[in-house]
Amino acid sequence: MQDLDLIVREAEAAFAAINDPDALEQVKARYLGKSGQITELLKGLGKLPPEEKKTAGAAINQAKVAVEAALNTRREDIRRAALEARLAEEALDVTLPGRGEGRGGLHPVTRTLERIETLFRSIGFSVADGPEIEEDFFNFTALNTPEEHPARSMHDTFYLLDEQGKVAENVLLRTHTSPIQARYMQAHVAKYAGQASMPEIRIIAPGRVYRVDSDATHSPMFHQVEGLWVGEDVSFADLKGVIADFLKSFFETDDLQVRFRPSFFPFTEPSAEIDVAFMSGALKGRWLEIAGCGMVHPNVLAHAGIDAERYTGFAFGFGPDRLTMLRYGVNDLRLFFEGDLRFLRQFV
Ligand code: DAH
Repeated sequence: MQDLDLIVREAEAAFAAINDPDALEQVKARYLGKSGQITELLKGLGKLPPEEKKTAGAAINQAKVAVEAALNTRREDIRRAALEARLAEEALDVTLPGRGEGRGGLHPVTRTLERIETLFRSIGFSVADGPEIEEDFFNFTALNTPEEHPARSMHDTFYLLDEQGKVAENVLLRTHTSPIQARYMQAHVAKYAGQASMPEIRIIAPGRVYRVDSDATHSPMFHQVEGLWVGEDVSFADLKGVIADFLKSFFETDDLQVRFRPSFFPFTEPSAEIDVAFMSGALKGRWLEIAGCGMVHPNVLAHAGIDAERYTGFAFGFGPDRLTMLRYGVNDLRLFFEGDLRFLRQFV
């Protein structure tokens, strides 16, 4: 008869070498299957003389029990190992940051506005503000555009309804940031009333403005940056210098030309349109209109209570949306205001 201990030890070693439940059942068959080693031994019992049968039978059974026990232990080990592996794999690390965390970023036009503010602050301008729902007086009249003046029709104004549903008198959505000039000058004069002279005014005023207009280059809401410098010796030459320096800093190149093209605005005299042309790059050689400007009209100074004989000033109004389009090569203004993250993410 074979050495039963050897069979048991072999079986234990064979089971231990296996990590897969199906393979384990195959190996089991080698010992306990229909023609497995233990089964064969049991079958052979009949051929033994009766006096040996009992002890041999008992020994084989003992071996069978041992093999079965080893098998069950291994089955359990494999099952537990598989469970542990799965738990480890599917474990949740609650300390990891969430995957959907949106970081946010500055809108490209906001970047431009911040850039403009930084550049003008560096030459002594401060930043002024005014209301978006503006009085007719500041939006037009104080800017030398009295009622019935044809220049009012240059602006397709949004008016507001009063509580009775009628067009409210004297208020509108500002059509430009120029009313901030008028407001600021008025407040400045009041602040230094009674003094021998007033300090210079040097401000920019960025903000949203509104006009009834919508296409690839016009949006009913858009941005402007107003500029105003009023003092005792402020000239058109100063205006040209400030603008040319600003544009070179803004676009980070000296490789551009600036042109002042005579134009008309009620609140400046003389007035000009500012065009810029890049001497290299995709837009090379094309004149692009980017701002209006001029010397503050004496009537505008007078409206604010400033002595136009003593003080002069220049003003300008930029379209920062346009500047942003040029700086980043964007061809449709509406992209800025649609809130499409696929577009906006490119600037973060
Ligand atoms: N307010 C003008 C507009 O919206 C732009 C402008 C032109 C502003 C000339 C100025 C200026 O300050 O001097 O069309």
